[in-house]
Amino acid sequence: MAVRNLIFYPSQILRDVSSPVTSFNGKIRMLLDDMTDTMYHERGIGLAAPQVGISTRAIVIDLGPSEKPVADEPAGLIKLLNPEIISSEGRITSEEGCLSIPDIRENVTRNEFIEVSSLSEKGEPLRFQASGLLAICIQHEIDHLNGILFIDHLSKVKKSLLKKQLKQLSK
Ligand code: CO
Repeated sequence: MAVRNLIFYPSQILRDVSSPVTSFNGKIRMLLDDMTDTMYHERGIGLAAPQVGISTRAIVIDLGPSEKPVADEPAGLIKLLNPEIISSEGRITSEEGCLSIPDIRENVTRNEFIEVSSLSEKGEPLRFQASGLLAICIQHEIDHLNGILFIDHLSKVKKSLLKKQLKQLSK
């Protein structure tokens, strides 16, 4: 297991659409382990493979011990391959940040309840519901797999106010 280097905005890698995982072998498990190490090292609650430079549909999430698990929802360390949102409901607004866009935090509105279909690290099908912070985090990470960043959800006015800060990150 190893901590990998993070990819930062405005790298093109963060804008690429990731490819589905098709073989469930030691290589994908090592990627997930390294992503987990990297997430914990950077004190994040979620990480997508493009953030370590790999355009593969893999995400890891751990909301941490302070977040009380909701009954029937996955808790602790969650590793998902080829995750998809199959239904969604409700709206929730919360402040988000991203390890790939340091020092910027903004309110983003997303679905409050989602149903997720995914594969485990062994390639077994998973299906579960998620709400609140877990739902927000899964949507944020799946966005990464589609080349979308949380700042893309901001209004034009909000984004123009961030222009200076974003430009600073481009240096
Ligand atoms: Co992010």
